[in-house]
Amino acid sequence: MRSRILGTGAYLPERVLTNFDLEKMVDTSNEWIIERTGIHERRIADQAEVTSDLAHEASVKALEMAGLEPHDIDLIVLATVSGDMPLPSTACILQDKLGAKRAAAFDINAACSGFIYALSVADAFIRSGTYRNILVVGAEILSRFTDWKDRTTCVLLGDGAGAVVLSPSDNDSGVISVRLYADGSLWDLLHIPAGGSKLPASEQTLRERMHYIKMRGNETFKVAVRTLQSLVEETLKDNGIKPSELSLLIPHQANRRIITATAERLGIPLDRVMLNLQKYGNTSAASIPIALDEALREGRIKQGDYILLEAFGGGLTWGSALIRW
Ligand code: ACO
Repeated sequence: MRSRILGTGAYLPERVLTNFDLEKMVDTSNEWIIERTGIHERRIADQAEVTSDLAHEASVKALEMAGLEPHDIDLIVLATVSGDMPLPSTACILQDKLGAKRAAAFDINAACSGFIYALSVADAFIRSGTYRNILVVGAEILSRFTDWKDRTTCVLLGDGAGAVVLSPSDNDSGVISVRLYADGSLWDLLHIPAGGSKLPASEQTLRERMHYIKMRGNETFKVAVRTLQSLVEETLKDNGIKPSELSLLIPHQANRRIITATAERLGIPLDRVMLNLQKYGNTSAASIPIALDEALREGRIKQGDYILLEAFGGGLTWGSALIRW
């Protein structure tokens, strides 16, 4: 039995931070950011908003499209690296906000690959017959973990949330295959040094700005390009799908150059690649469900289409999901 996506939803905070705004904050330029990343602007959550609020807004829309009520949900799997607090899980707080009283709930930390990891868990629970309706969410307020004095990271990140409802399929539509990978030996390419058991919060960690995201961008970039090209190629080959049969590639929205390199290698024209990072930047675990929701609502996905989701992020982690709509 396959699982299939019954509904999607997304939420982006209202406040827009443009490259021109960033020019006034750090030594950067609109031209540099667009040329190296493709990003024009990103959304920043209001001070009063927390990650579970963004997740809640997206989830309500996904449930509405699926035609389900919160009490129909059996499980909530929420991918984030910027949850409301270290304990409890943001999924539990979301369960309370939704009033999804029957649902079990837990978080997944796989950085930008978090949504693919969460989807794979939900898919396995449905295939095994354990649960019927699962809410899979990617939600981030990265702006609270961004060092606004570090031009190498602050121009990249944004806030947002996306959600899908996964349920059993009664035909051949649905998740065909999910692949997950990790290479923990490269954990320090992308990390937040303090705030965990290794370096609990202290005056020193605060002074040394160790509670913010640190990334060795250029090294990460090279691994991402190499890894994603072979990941997409293998996923299609192993499932007997030619690149020309793929209706839409929905990549994690980290960098336009990474995305176009993958598409070019496979000969997938850019009109069959979902790109919205120019508006939202890199929203980590939220980027794929936001892009999926946007593509669906824009009418870019039709019944029977083959869709490929792929992501790469901190951990390092990466993964793909091939879906027949
Ligand atoms: N404005 C102006 N100049 C800058 C900026 C900036 N915002 N940031 C860096 N520079 C400078 C650097 O200091 C460097 O200067 P130098 O040559 O004098 O030393 C120069 O620009 C080139 O820097 P690189 O880091 O080599 O630039 P690169 O072309 O690699 O682009 C970027 C940087 C955009 C970060 C890119 O490497 C990238 O996208 N990396 C991958 C990001 C990613 O996919 N992360 C994984 C997912 S994220 C997650 O999991 C949360």
